[in-house]
Amino acid sequence: MSVPVIEVVNLSKAFGPKVVLSKVNLSVELGESLVVLGGSGSGKTVLLRNIMGLLRPDTGHVAVDGRIVHEMSREELFETRMKIGMCFQMAALFDSMTVFENVAFALRRHSHMKEKEVQGRVEECLAMVGLKGTEQLKPAELSGGMKRRVGFARAIALKPKILLFDEPTTGLDPVMTDVIGRVILDLKHELGVTTITITHDLKSAFEIGDRIALLFRGECLAVQPPEEFKANPDPVIQQFLRGDADGPFLLDPPPPKRTPKGVNV
Ligand SMILES: Nc1ncnc2c1ncn2[C@@H]1O[C@H](COP(=O)(O)OP(=O)(O)O)[C@@H](O)[C@H]1O
Ligand SMILES: [Mg+2]
Repeated sequence: MSVPVIEVVNLSKAFGPKVVLSKVNLSVELGESLVVLGGSGSGKTVLLRNIMGLLRPDTGHVAVDGRIVHEMSREELFETRMKIGMCFQMAALFDSMTVFENVAFALRRHSHMKEKEVQGRVEECLAMVGLKGTEQLKPAELSGGMKRRVGFARAIALKPKILLFDEPTTGLDPVMTDVIGRVILDLKHELGVTTITITHDLKSAFEIGDRIALLFRGECLAVQPPEEFKANPDPVIQQFLRGDADGPFLLDPPPPKRTPKGVNV
């Protein structure tokens, strides 16, 4: 069998007494698209930061292309990061730069492209995310969804092998959420890259994901194809899918007891 592009092995990470990830195991094959679901604060971003080598595991490891990230030399880590396009939760664009300059930034810094080639590549990337003709706009002139897409264009500029999306639709309206979901799907098909997408949006999760994982109390509860995931009888998974307040998902810590309005107890 081929080596997975990303392999997370018994990964544990705590901050002080707070255990965030506890023996998480995941692997993502070449060209595969994994979606990671989980409540706020369940360690999804911490997982991505371990993959990028921005955090060091307490135990276990992450391997990218068969190489253990936390054992890499600086040069190797740099090379690995160049293989990864990261789309942050908020687009994190440079506000003083135009859309063109934002997308061109990494190309100018990390490639030997001539200015004309940079221009061609920026246009190509913007077209791929449906933003042709926005080159001269500033981030302040863009809607939230457009900003996220500029972030995507910037992330794909250097032709990464891996794309990581951290909550790309959080804070967007339902229609824009759907647009972003489709852009991710298009990028997956057009570029054939290996992706991990963290999202709360179940509709796009099931469209994008070849497999779906759920992080809960530091553990990875399931990593399954969408149909199997939906049919998984685990009560935590079923509650998450229903988006329901009743069930084990919220029982840690227990919700406060409600008292009828106006009654003093
Ligand atoms: N650098 C850090 N130092 C201390 N605590 C952290 C740090 N990064 C994350 N955490 C904590 O780890 C938990 C998981 O965070 P995170 O992965 O960002 O959650 P999410 O699933 O919402 O992305 C949170 O309780 C957060 O406060
Ligand atoms: Mg997060």
